[in-house]
Amino acid sequence: MGRAIAIANQKGGVGKTTTSINLSATLAEKGKKVLVIDTDPQGNTTSGFGLNKNQLENTIYELLIGECKVNDALYKDVVDGVDIIPSNVNLAAVEIELIDMEEKEFILKKAIEKIRKNYDFIIIDCPPSLSMLTINAMTTANTVLVPIQCEYYALEGLSQLVHTVNLVKERLNEDLEMEGVIFTMYDSRTNLSMQVVENVKDHISENVYKTIIPRNIRLAEAPSYGLPINLYDTKSSGAEAYRLLADEVIGRKF
Ligand SMILES: Nc1ncnc2c1ncn2[C@@H]1O[C@H](COP(=O)(O)OP(=O)(O)OP(=O)(O)O)[C@@H](O)[C@H]1O
Ligand SMILES: [Mg+2]
Repeated sequence: MGRAIAIANQKGGVGKTTTSINLSATLAEKGKKVLVIDTDPQGNTTSGFGLNKNQLENTIYELLIGECKVNDALYKDVVDGVDIIPSNVNLAAVEIELIDMEEKEFILKKAIEKIRKNYDFIIIDCPPSLSMLTINAMTTANTVLVPIQCEYYALEGLSQLVHTVNLVKERLNEDLEMEGVIFTMYDSRTNLSMQVVENVKDHISENVYKTIIPRNIRLAEAPSYGLPINLYDTKSSGAEAYRLLADEVIGRKF
């Protein structure tokens, strides 16, 4: 059975989507079979893999409201070894539509049950909120990986996020574990990044991944070409860092 990792932080712009795309692609490069699930109405993971998010017949939205079957919302081999269940702005309405549904916290988990066994890793990109979509990601997941941007206020909201993970573990998914935190957008030219890393390490008890993702312009450019970093600029510092992260993730057993 593979491992499903929810990439979550209710803080916006911390590198959730960049990590979802590039960790998935580098895991696949190492021979793992990966399913990516985009649970963010912004659909940035979807477009980051080169899909035109506004021209998709079926997305996670249709899947969650029961209008299509999982295989109809599955786009295979967007890059070698990576399948995706995409998202677009339609998903923004789902919170309201879920309100009346039974077991609304488990809709995603049930929806992908049949295909789970086909994958070594399932990477779930979450929206920047602690919404029902994020809860659905956490009930589907085995672990939660938290990107932390090397910036002032890096710790802001982290305790609330850890609290949410604990609540989900107590009430909805007793097997849920913290995968750990991963520092992103590290700028080696400033002292600030270094201070943030040290400060956060002092204040949290969660696992901290040794790999630190540098600030690298190639990582910001790649999505506009619809490519993950390993295919856009295979020798960039960003590609190398995400390969190291993939090795660490593979090596971490639960
Ligand atoms: N390591 C990096 N180096 C340079 N730019 C980066 C890096 N990581 C992310 N970015 C850029 O920072 C912005 C925010 O990143 P990203 O979209 O991954 O964050 P997010 O947490 O998914 O945001 P949101 O909360 O809106 O979903 C994007 O423009 C992205 O290209
Ligand atoms: Mg995002």
